Amino acid sequence: MLSCLTLAVSCDGAEVTTAAGLAVDGQPHPVQQAFLDHDAFQCGYCTPGQICSAIGMLDEFGNGWPSHVSPDLTANPELTDMELAERMSGNLCRCGAYANIVPALRQAAGEAP
Ligand code: FES
Repeated sequence: MLSCLTLAVSCDGAEVTTAAGLAVDGQPHPVQQAFLDHDAFQCGYCTPGQICSAIGMLDEFGNGWPSHVSPDLTANPELTDMELAERMSGNLCRCGAYANIVPALRQAAGEAP
């Protein structure tokens, strides 16, 4: 969820995880680690949002959710560059770090380098 568009009261009783809460025992979340491994940031302004969105995106993808660009809404989607761009389109990087963000997302999705 976009915290800037979410009323705090709407989260009453909910479990909320922010980017600061992803690491476990000091160990980065696999998506955080993938962003580090691929240097998928420059100024870092967008990075917490990119990482949180990526975790949600990969969860939806893993559950077979189609996107606006999925050619077949009934089939399991493939993680094409177009799918990645569409599914992460709510997160803009003003530094243009996409050349590193995409391989980081692929690593987080479990794809071989
Ligand atoms: S790393 Fe600077 S806005 Fe994305």
